[in-house]
Amino acid sequence: MAAAGSAVGLGNIWKFPYIAGENGGAAFLIVYLICVLLFGLPLIMTEFLIGKRSGKSAYGAFQTLNGNSRWNWLSWLCMLTAFLIMGFYFVVTGWCFSYLTEALTGVFHGLSMDTLSSHFEAVVANKPRMLLFSVLPVALTAAVLWFDVNTGIERLSKILMPLLLLMMLLMAGCVLMLDGSNIGLQFFFRADFTKITPTVVMEAMGQCFFSLSIGMGALITYGAYMPKTQNVTATSIQVIVLDTLVAILAGIIIFPAVFAFGLNPEEGPQLVFVVLPAIFEQMSFPWLSSVLFFALLCIAALTSTISLMEVAVAFVCEASNGKLNRHKSVLIVSAGVIALVVLCVGIPFIFNYFDKVTADIMMPLGAMGMCLFVGWCLPKNGEKGVLHADKGIKHIAGKIYIAALRFLVPAAIILIFLNSLRIL
Ligand code: PHE
Repeated sequence: MAAAGSAVGLGNIWKFPYIAGENGGAAFLIVYLICVLLFGLPLIMTEFLIGKRSGKSAYGAFQTLNGNSRWNWLSWLCMLTAFLIMGFYFVVTGWCFSYLTEALTGVFHGLSMDTLSSHFEAVVANKPRMLLFSVLPVALTAAVLWFDVNTGIERLSKILMPLLLLMMLLMAGCVLMLDGSNIGLQFFFRADFTKITPTVVMEAMGQCFFSLSIGMGALITYGAYMPKTQNVTATSIQVIVLDTLVAILAGIIIFPAVFAFGLNPEEGPQLVFVVLPAIFEQMSFPWLSSVLFFALLCIAALTSTISLMEVAVAFVCEASNGKLNRHKSVLIVSAGVIALVVLCVGIPFIFNYFDKVTADIMMPLGAMGMCLFVGWCLPKNGEKGVLHADKGIKHIAGKIYIAALRFLVPAAIILIFLNSLRIL
């Protein structure tokens, strides 16, 4: 559940609908699902196994398993990726907190579509206020890591995650009753294969890495905390299924509403912030549903930021060789993150750049590094083997898994890179 809490977040509810909207809806969905099958399973398993085998976070794991420092660059890449993601992710979390306070005061009641769009622009344009709202989740995340209350959070997410799903099901039910919603369903489910371009493939791959939290070491930590008896394959499948369900459900809510309200699916990052308040107005208890939804969204975002910040905190703590304790590391990382958040709030280009470069380049590179590390460098079988860390991967499945790590996944990532650079 904790790993699912890391995976399910703004990537599913904020990013997936807007990226799918910009990339042809159903055409994107198909490529996305292929990416989830191709990359999701082997890579989540790989991160869990690295963590379970080494008992370490992304900082010490590679060195512990390999016995030398040749793969330490991968730890650095993970840490850098975590920082850059946090830079823009906290800003979007800030938008959610801002919308939660506005839902509480009933600001959205009676606003038209046009006003909702300009409302979002006004929220983002008020930089000092936005900065305050973005620093708030940084402080909350830092507090969780400071007081080490992760287990409490996990228990909480066991209740809140099903509640979020239930809430989304209710919203989908309401949206599907709107006039014109079927056009949105067609947009999301009826694929036009001519719309699959190299850019669509690249964006789908990036979204898959981002949404499943793979390629930057967050899940290595969760693997390290796994009980010895836990089945890695089954856990990975559960995380993937839950994460993908939430993303598809978000699409089923957003696109029918977009078309029913006469909006453009290519609105970009503001898409869900314009559509969601309008959906609540159509529901039976607009105030209650908007407050509940935005509160759950903020919590879903926080369970992701906790896993992101943990990567950086563990790195600083361990890289200092004990000179910096956990509390000092939390403070240093928070200060660094706040500096990046200031940049992202102030300069929209940097916000967009961090978003693109992490998902489309850094996470795929990190993932490829991990595949090659486990596929080619580590012993496979026997007491010391990677597969020994999990009783769940038996003979043939183990062979297929290793072949995927050695050839299939790295080759697919390279092909998609070359394709998007129009080299192929
Ligand atoms: N997967 C998270 C989401 O979809 C984002 C995330 C990426 C979290 C990488 C941790 C690591 O919101």
